[in-house]
Amino acid sequence: MISHFMTDLVIICAFIICITAIESINEADKIASLPGQPKVSFRQYAGFISIDEKKDRAFFYYFVEADTEPASKPLVLWLNGGPGCSSVGVGAFCEHGPFKPSGNVLVKNHYSWNKGANVLYLESPAGVGFSYSVNKSFYSIGDEMTAQDNLIFLEKWFDKFPEFKTREFYITGESYGGHYVPQLANLIIQSKAKFNLKGIAIGNPLLEFNTDFNSKSEFLWSHGLISDATYELFTKACNYSQIRRQYQNGNLTPVCSLVIRQVSGEIGKFVDTYDVTLDVCLSTASMQSEVLNKLKDKPKIDVCVEDETIVYLNRKDVQKALHARLVGVNQWTVCSEYFILPLSAQIIKKIKKKNHTLKINSETVK
Ligand SMILES: *[C@@H]1O[C@H](CO)[C@@H](O)[C@H](O)[C@H]1NC(C)=O
Ligand SMILES: *[C@@H]1O[C@H](CO)[C@@H](O)[C@H](O)[C@H]1NC(C)=O
Ligand SMILES: *[C@@H]1O[C@H](CO)[C@@H](O)[C@H](O)[C@H]1NC(C)=O
Repeated sequence: MISHFMTDLVIICAFIICITAIESINEADKIASLPGQPKVSFRQYAGFISIDEKKDRAFFYYFVEADTEPASKPLVLWLNGGPGCSSVGVGAFCEHGPFKPSGNVLVKNHYSWNKGANVLYLESPAGVGFSYSVNKSFYSIGDEMTAQDNLIFLEKWFDKFPEFKTREFYITGESYGGHYVPQLANLIIQSKAKFNLKGIAIGNPLLEFNTDFNSKSEFLWSHGLISDATYELFTKACNYSQIRRQYQNGNLTPVCSLVIRQVSGEIGKFVDTYDVTLDVCLSTASMQSEVLNKLKDKPKIDVCVEDETIVYLNRKDVQKALHARLVGVNQWTVCSEYFILPLSAQIIKKIKKKNHTLKINSETVK
């Protein structure tokens, strides 16, 4: 009788330990609260996931569950571009995450994507943000290996968050993400990974130099930022895709150099070319507020949010709350110096057609 009871007890205990083990797979990554954060009801997680066996290469992620009914909302992966820029810094804290830094605190972002989805922000590849590789030859590894590492990351992330394994999954991003996003989707399809991939979305994507960059001249001219004569030069004498290409190769011709100097001179220093309706951030947040405090109207958009994010993510208490640490660098940066734009990166021409839509609100996308 006693021995029966003991066996039952052992089984019950084993069962409880088992449940605890499942629950605690991601418990270590759970964020209690970020410094200065307003009270919210959704869960947040952050931490490293190692990409190689020896744990010498690891990717950092920040994951926010949907603010209501996370179990019924899709999973969205977000990738910023650069190459070399941080999805946590730019995507989560400047663009569409739940909070934006403002002084010493975080304020709620009312256009946060986690109103419609569970959003996973990934710093990728190694060398970006908190993501690191002990062997620095794995920095700036190119698109193909980036996609492979991202796939390894996802497989391990799903092991940590098994309830999302079968969830509707979307891969989204912007700028150089125009390369990362379709290439990762393509690899997932080819690798037959068992993710429930439903679709991709790319905003302001870099796909191809000629088509992407040459719209700049018309955009600047049609917004009255450059003169007719300069527009003529910027299209006939030397266009922007030529300038970008030459700049990349480090051999700007005298003609192109003259054109870009004339264009920049006319636009001036006080126009944000990502959003010409906005002010620019003057070097530091305090300088900006000094200037703005003299104005009557308070701006609705904080143009210094990137500066504030740099300060916020470099705070030791913030890094502790995020389970982050600096490896091989002295500072967290928005965009890493290790990356250059490849001139002939692979472009995915066709991806298996899927017919799904994802509805989430968005602010202007950088
Ligand atoms: C770094 O990785 C490269 C590429 O795999 C390898 O050739 C090199 O020996 C490694 N360096 C060190 C110090 O391990
Ligand atoms: C830009 O200039 C290059 C080199 O002259 C030319 O091949 C290309 O067609 C131009 N693109 C546009 C959109 O004018
Ligand atoms: C996609 O699905 C919607 C709703 O199921 C349908 O109305 C639409 O025609 C489909 N579009 C394509 C291109 O198949």
